[in-house]
Amino acid sequence: MAEGPANEAPYRLIADDVELGEGVVVHAFTNLYGCRIGDGTRIGPFVEVQRGASIGARCKIQSHTFVCDGVEIGDEVFVGHGVMFVNDKRPAATTETGELQGDGDWELLRTAVGRRASLGSGAVILGGVTVGEGAVVGAGAVVTRDVAPGEVVAGTPARPLRTA
Ligand SMILES: CC(C)(COP(=O)(O)OP(=O)(O)OC[C@H]1O[C@@H](n2cnc3c(N)ncnc32)[C@H](O)[C@@H]1OP(=O)(O)O)[C@@H](O)C(=O)NCCC(=O)NCCS
Repeated sequence: MAEGPANEAPYRLIADDVELGEGVVVHAFTNLYGCRIGDGTRIGPFVEVQRGASIGARCKIQSHTFVCDGVEIGDEVFVGHGVMFVNDKRPAATTETGELQGDGDWELLRTAVGRRASLGSGAVILGGVTVGEGAVVGAGAVVTRDVAPGEVVAGTPARPLRTA
């Protein structure tokens, strides 16, 4: 584990509990807490990676992307700009008795992205899906089901276009 990122940049939070690999580049206005980032990965500006998320080695995470708890991204994955992961199928602010929801009041759905997969800009990856190794998700797609290894999907909901 490295002591810090490989570059200097202003206005970024890298919490003490982040497991940062060697040679990780983290740009400005980025929030990383309680997550793992593998060696050589590059994180663009305005990215948030939540507690419990994991990103592999030599990935590119482009600006404005949100990686939530329960997401596991393999090595060499490309994540385009503004990709949104989702981990709560039925989000609610409060419980039935009107109190703010806390941990345990909702079900965390886990998501996995296989090695060398590529997620196009603006894609939404719903919770509980697996994007297979080397798969490609088109820009703007809403991924509601598993994507097979090497498959190219696009649209809302995402449907197979072809095999890469
Ligand atoms: C999905 C993608 C890989 C498909 O590329 P491709 O295989 O070369 O496909 P084509 O451009 O030949 O298009 C094939 C069909 O899919 C449609 N299509 C392509 N991309 C699409 C998308 N993102 N959403 C919906 N439909 C899409 C095309 O309109 C075309 O439909 P038609 O045959 O009815 O005209 C590509 O379009 C894409 O979205 N790449 C992601 C790019 C990106 O976000 N980069 C991030 C950093 S800049």
